[in-house]
Amino acid sequence: MIEAAGADSRMVNEKLIIMNKVNVEQKLSLFADYWNPRVVGELNGQHVKLVKFQGEFVWHKHDNEDEMFFVVKGQFKMEFRERTVELKENEFLIVPKGVEHRPVAEQEVSVMLFEPSTTLNTGDTESELTKHILEKL
Ligand code: NI
Repeated sequence: MIEAAGADSRMVNEKLIIMNKVNVEQKLSLFADYWNPRVVGELNGQHVKLVKFQGEFVWHKHDNEDEMFFVVKGQFKMEFRERTVELKENEFLIVPKGVEHRPVAEQEVSVMLFEPSTTLNTGDTESELTKHILEKL
């Protein structure tokens, strides 16, 4: 009985943590490096991540995952093989699975990502920018 009560209270605590609101600006103030996404939320097997870009990323694709890029602050260009999409603050883009893409930011941009928790930042292109383990903020 005691163990069951303990389990219940842990579950309650986890729910309370999940139900705390998140301030995006505050989370962004906690890191300054580029191309290193932080996990700031999780739901239904998906991660909500925050990341800062500057410069050129690597060409890659994700065979099994669609990716959403929402610009919180700044702007960047998403390059595709056939065209380029410019994304400004408050705009988002969904990159469908299997489509090659490369984010390029002339200046620092802060972006929210929404994608399955299995998504690797560099997709099928292993490089020095690949992040296998993401910090949770
Ligand atoms: Ni990608």
